[in-house]
Amino acid sequence: MTDKITTHQAQEDARNETILIYLNGRIVPKAEALVSVYDSGFMMGDGVWEGLRLYDGCWAFLDDHLDRLFEAAKAIDLDIGLDRDGVKNALLETQKANGMTTDAHARFMVTRGVKTRPFQHPALSQQGPTVTIIMEHSKPSIPRPIRLATVPHIRGLPMSQDPKLNSHSKLNCILACIAAEKAGADEALMLDVHGFVNTTNACNFFIVRKGEVWTSTGDYCMNGITRQKVIDVCHADGIPIYERNYSLVDTYGADEAFLTGTFGAQTPVGAIDGRQIGSGEMGPMTKRIRALYKALVERERT
Ligand SMILES: Cc1ncc(COP(=O)(O)O)c(C=O)c1O
Repeated sequence: MTDKITTHQAQEDARNETILIYLNGRIVPKAEALVSVYDSGFMMGDGVWEGLRLYDGCWAFLDDHLDRLFEAAKAIDLDIGLDRDGVKNALLETQKANGMTTDAHARFMVTRGVKTRPFQHPALSQQGPTVTIIMEHSKPSIPRPIRLATVPHIRGLPMSQDPKLNSHSKLNCILACIAAEKAGADEALMLDVHGFVNTTNACNFFIVRKGEVWTSTGDYCMNGITRQKVIDVCHADGIPIYERNYSLVDTYGADEAFLTGTFGAQTPVGAIDGRQIGSGEMGPMTKRIRALYKALVERERT
């Protein structure tokens, strides 16, 4: 497709060629930010990460991100070797080294570190964690509403690989995205184990029907921080918001649909499985929620 886009598309920024990367306590040029082929993250997808966004000198909802990071690390029994202040300081150090004040995105990643042998057992990871931060100049630039396609890949049950883990192993989501792309869409709309609409491969998903905002129960999707903030601003502003089961029939018939994530905040969806959603453009409720979210980010800074 000629007009291929992604939900994590940003304005071209030449400065990103020369950014500095945080690598295990050191700040190094991008070209020198290398990890071992024995790294647990490279070899096994054994690690967790957070995506954070800098607005006007402040990392949005930092405490929520730290909560989720430490919860995930605990769940996979990974000592990340830093406490909350240590993670904050690493972020601030990287930000300062790069001279970034706003419109930046950070991917904080921690893996089980370098293995002694190329096999799965976590006991082979003996050298301590690998901690990296990729911080890029980043202004989302998504030229048109996103097109989604439903795919055969589902959001699984929590006892196989809990979809709430922001783990390095994203193959299920990547396969979903590939299937969506092959169907001519930008991103995949994924169902849960019961066939209800759940989330996309990289963002949370909302629909708007007759003035109400619906999102999944949250049982099988990432506990997105932006998702929760959207729910909060809807409650605060008197917008009816429901976390509920709903089907593709409800979804195709929606007046609006949008995605949420730290990278793009709220991103309109124009079509799903070849059906236009509403006008196919960003609708008034999505615009209203975007403004409420922006105001919340600004309020939280002070
Ligand atoms: C699968 C998935 N869904 C949703 C999100 C959005 O979460 P957040 O709003 O916390 O960025 C992410 C981001 O990490 C994700 O990986």
